[in-house]
Amino acid sequence: MSTENKDNIHHGELVEVEEVVEFTPAYRWQHWIRALTIVVLTFTGFYIAYPFIDPSSNPEPTNFLYANMRAVHLAFGFLMIAAVLIKTYLTLLGKADTYKAEFVSMKDLINPKIWIHQLGYYMFLSKHPPLKGVYNPLQFMAYFAMYILFYLLIITGIVLYVHVYHEGLGGALYGIGRWFEVLMGGLANVREIHHISMWALLIIIVIHIYMAVFNAVFGKNGSMDAIFSGMKWNKKH
Ligand code: HEM
Repeated sequence: MSTENKDNIHHGELVEVEEVVEFTPAYRWQHWIRALTIVVLTFTGFYIAYPFIDPSSNPEPTNFLYANMRAVHLAFGFLMIAAVLIKTYLTLLGKADTYKAEFVSMKDLINPKIWIHQLGYYMFLSKHPPLKGVYNPLQFMAYFAMYILFYLLIITGIVLYVHVYHEGLGGALYGIGRWFEVLMGGLANVREIHHISMWALLIIIVIHIYMAVFNAVFGKNGSMDAIFSGMKWNKKH
């Protein structure tokens, strides 16, 4: 881990801090690619569910707004699939400290003391507990749920995709797509699960952004900077 020492004013007192690598460039890229794809997929997804803009009628065969929205949805859908698969690979097999620390977070997850102090921290009752890993238990649970939703959106998205494009990749995935379709009780259910998963993901994202801002404001260690620059500042003990 690269470190650099600096004196810094922290909560009104002068403390020595060290700069530590929190997130690798690959981690930060896949995070922002996922963020972008979620925005585009939510917008185009809402349109697919309820086409709220109508192109003005004309006699030319140019009114393909719905098909265009779906094409954009699919392009960004596959971009999201790539980012999620890369992140899954990095979490399971990545060599950098960041990915190893993700696993170490499980030790914090099963420690009741950390849970109590973390909840206390969010209610302004106690200090932030010292963590062994990179995520606190609540954060870990939220991210775990987020990945279940990503994979649900991907599987249901692929099932819907094989019914839209029958050649090439769509054709190749048709058999496995139909298998999941039957498992989920038919195409109407698949669409419903895809839609509800979007809402669950949006709720977690709102909480995620609130928590990130909360930690940036009260943690005062550059934890929000880390997802841009990769670095944050830890107090030296
Ligand atoms: C954050 C991720 C995603 C969100 C928020 C999202 C959202 C949505 C929504 C709301 C719908 C409309 C469902 C309805 O009719 O009620 C939809 C449809 C669809 N989505 Fe997604 N989606 C995501 C990811 C994906 C992925 C990864 C794929 C596959 C590559 C995909 C492929 C499709 C397809 C093929 C349709 C149906 C198009 C049609 O019926 O013509 N989606 N999506």
